[in-house]
Order: sequence, then C-alpha cells, then structure tokens
Amino acid sequence: MNSNDEAEKPLNVLILAAGLGTRMKSDLAKVLHRLDGRPLIEHVFRTALSLNPKKVFIVVGHQADDVRAALPGSTHDARIEFVVQKEQLGTGDAVNAARDRLADVDSNILVLSGDVPLIKIETLRELIAVHLLENAACTVLTVKLSDPFGYGRVIRGDGGLDRIVEQKDATDAERKVAEINSGIYCFDSGKLFDALSNVKTNNAQGEYYLTDVPRLLLDNDETVALFLHDQTFEVEGVNDRKQLASIEKMINEETIEKLMKESGVTFIDPRNAYISSTAAIGRDTVIYPNVTIEGNTVVGINCVIRSGTRLSNAMIGDGVEIRDNCLIIDSDVGDRCSVGPMAHLRGHAVMVEGAKVGNFVEMKKTRLGKNSKAAHLTYLGDATVGEDANIGAGVVTCNYDGKNKHETHIGDRVKIGSDTMLVAPVTVGDGATTGAGSVVTKDVEPGETVVGVPAKTLRALAKKD
Ligand code: UD1
Ligand code: CA
Repeated sequence: MNSNDEAEKPLNVLILAAGLGTRMKSDLAKVLHRLDGRPLIEHVFRTALSLNPKKVFIVVGHQADDVRAALPGSTHDARIEFVVQKEQLGTGDAVNAARDRLADVDSNILVLSGDVPLIKIETLRELIAVHLLENAACTVLTVKLSDPFGYGRVIRGDGGLDRIVEQKDATDAERKVAEINSGIYCFDSGKLFDALSNVKTNNAQGEYYLTDVPRLLLDNDETVALFLHDQTFEVEGVNDRKQLASIEKMINEETIEKLMKESGVTFIDPRNAYISSTAAIGRDTVIYPNVTIEGNTVVGINCVIRSGTRLSNAMIGDGVEIRDNCLIIDSDVGDRCSVGPMAHLRGHAVMVEGAKVGNFVEMKKTRLGKNSKAAHLTYLGDATVGEDANIGAGVVTCNYDGKNKHETHIGDRVKIGSDTMLVAPVTVGDGATTGAGSVVTKDVEPGETVVGVPAKTLRALAKKD
C-alpha cells in the first residue's frame, strides 16, 4: 500500500466515556461533571466533530442515557454512534466494545478520552499527520510533565517506544520518567483490533489496558510512533475534583486574559471573576470582583457590572449599569438600562432601552418598556409595561390564581401607586393611575384614576357620594 492510499483512508473517532470515575467520589459519571459550564464529554465531543471525521463513536456505560442526553443533537446525527461497554473492564475493553462497528472498516481511528477536555483540534491534526507520515500502526500523543504522577509513563528504548507502564505497575525508576501517555492515540483499525485480542489483565488493576497495545504491535514488527507535544495543559486529565478545579481555573484565567487583551474589558480583580469562555463582553465594560458570567451571555460596551452579580444567558446592551448582587437569567436588558442593587430577572424578562429596575425587584416573563421604572420591592410576572410608566414601591402583579397564570398589561405613562395589587388578568390603559394600596381587579380605562379595595374609579366613587 503506498502512502496515497493510506492518506485516503477514512478517519473515525472513538471517545472513551464509560467509566464512573471512582476518584471523583461522586454519584455522577465523571464525564458529566461540568467544566466551563458544560459537561466534560461535550468539550471532547465538539472537538471530535470539528475534525470532520467519517463517524464519531462514543463508548458509554455508567449513566449511558444521561451521557447521550448531554450531547446536543447527537441522537439525530447519523455521524454519531453510541457503543455500550457493559462492564468497565478497562480502556482496552472500552475500545473493544466498538469491535463490531469498526474492525471491518479499514480506517484510521483516533482515540480520545472523555476526561481529557482541553485537547486542541490543531494538535489532533498534527498527530494524524505524524501517523500518516510514519505509516504507523499506532501513534501516541505524549508530553513531558514536571509532575507525572498518576499517568502512564512512556518508556523509550532504542530509537522509540519500548512500552507504556501505568503508575500502579511502574517501578520507582519508571515513575521518575517525565514523559507520559496523554491517552490520545491514532491507530490503524485492523492492527488495533488484532492486537487488542491479545491484551491480558495481568496488571495491578486487573484491567484490560489499551496501553498494552503499542507493545503488542511492536512485537508484531509494526511501527509505533510517538508525537511529543509541548503544550502540556492540553492533555491534563480530569480524574479527581482537584484536577477539575485546576483546569476550571486555567480556562477562566485564559478567558479573562483574552477579554482584557483582545476585547478591552476592565477587571478590577481578574482573579476574582468567573467568566464562561462562551460569553462575550464589549469594550470599556468594567467588571467588579465576584461577578459570574455564564453561558452565552453577551454584554455590550461601556457597561459597569458590580460585585455579587450573576448573569446567565443574558443579553446586556450598551452603557448598562448593573449594581451589586443582581441575578439575571435568560433575559434581555436594553441600552442604558439600570438594574439593581439586588434585582432578579428571569424567564425571558425584557427591559427596553433606558428602563430602570431597583432594589428587590423581581421580573419574570415581563417586558418593561422604554424609560419605565420599577424602583423598589416589586414583583412583575407575565406582564407588559409600556413606555415612561412608573411602578411604585411594593407593587405586585398577582399572576397566579392557584391554578393558572394570567397576564397583566400596563400602558404608556401609567402611574401605579405604591403597594398596588394588580389581580391578573387585568389591563391598565395608557395614562391611568392607581392609588396607593389599591387592589385592581378590573380593567382600568386609559386616563382613569382608580383607588381602594377593590379599586374603583374616582368618578364612580364621586357618584356614590
Ligand atoms: C489512562 C491511561 C494512562 C494515561 C491517562 C491519560 C490506560 C490503562 N491508562 O489512565 O496511560 O496516562 O489515561 O489521561 O488506558 N474508560 C472506559 N471504560 C473503562 C475504563 C475507562 O470507557 O472500562 C474511559 C473513562 O471513562 C475515561 C477514559 O476511559 O474517560 C480513561 O480512563 P481512566 O480510568 O481515567 O484512565 P487513567 O487512569 O486516567
Ligand atoms: Ca483519566
């Protein structure tokens, strides 16, 4: 076979994700633990897909259904197949679980670990290139670590790999070796499954080690190549909570540094902000300590976000001030709005340009119109408020009758007096006013003033007298 034929072989990716992850001391399968807001497996899965392989196979076992569900779109995409490893007998057995699907398809197989989330697509492309160039049966991605504890060590012999030895099986001398196995490999499919048939469990953990395959291939006079990579952080594995936290910190630092350097964002204390790598923040925005920005949040330019605030999938316009201790989830805040302190927006709340929401105000599925204000102690749920309206202190849209939710509609330039209860469904017309403490159970006509419990128009009250 010449090298051209080799190059034309399809590429398949196999992700190992069946283990429980004993060292996590968790009831949740390791690959479902979150990093940068997304399950570990999603990071690896997205990288795999971006290589545009023929297929991505995911070996699942522990909490298989949850792992499937954690991968968006995976159940409808014909390129993605799940393979079940019934018992977790080791990484060799995990690969072997895909034998029926892969052994007879002549391909290159890239093996990735569900618990090595930071690997970059460029690195994988280089690994594949080395594999093709060397015409190898197996190419192992390795790095040298100052603290290699826990990893499989790469023992070199004359001119290349001799074998890989796991931490638990290694001698003291072998444990001193800095070069480690990343758990990422490229294999020739036929040769991989041939060698796997000969893997035994005579090791410290009584498992089928995938790491025995390279030695077995060498014994068959096959070529095994090593690709020594210099970016060690890319191959950091998550085996315990400490490693998870340290990788989380690394991603966060990288994200904040990028926001400062490339987007022109000010962080008062860069070590004390938590920003998802999927969020975007505009130029000259200032982030105070202890701010958390999650998911696909977008923050515009010239905003100020004060301490204790959490934004999750929020759209924040330009020139917005978010004061201390606000929680904004799945909601939009328009340009030049002011929020907080201690405000809560959720369930697709929308503040239009120039609107203001103050102390202890909660908004759910509510649209607060341009320049309208709700400054103190208010609940607005399932409501719309027009422009230039003022919602007094302590106002509540009583949207729930014990069975169903109902809507409240408040027009432009309305003044809702303090402590007004708006019993939904109810509409308050443009320019209307409600008196302090009124309980509004019926629609209010535009321009009318209503007062009392239940609220009546001033005209109606005058007639009675
Ligand atoms: C493995 C390698 C080690 C390497 C390290 C890199 C082996 C024997 N050792 O060790 O040389 O330095 O990765 O991170 O391969 N899995 C299954 N089924 C199983 C066992 C594991 O699907 O039966 C999956 C796990 O879910 C995990 C991955 O394989 O995603 C790696 O398993 P893990 O137990 O973490 O291996 P390490 O001890 O880290
Ligand atoms: Ca691991």
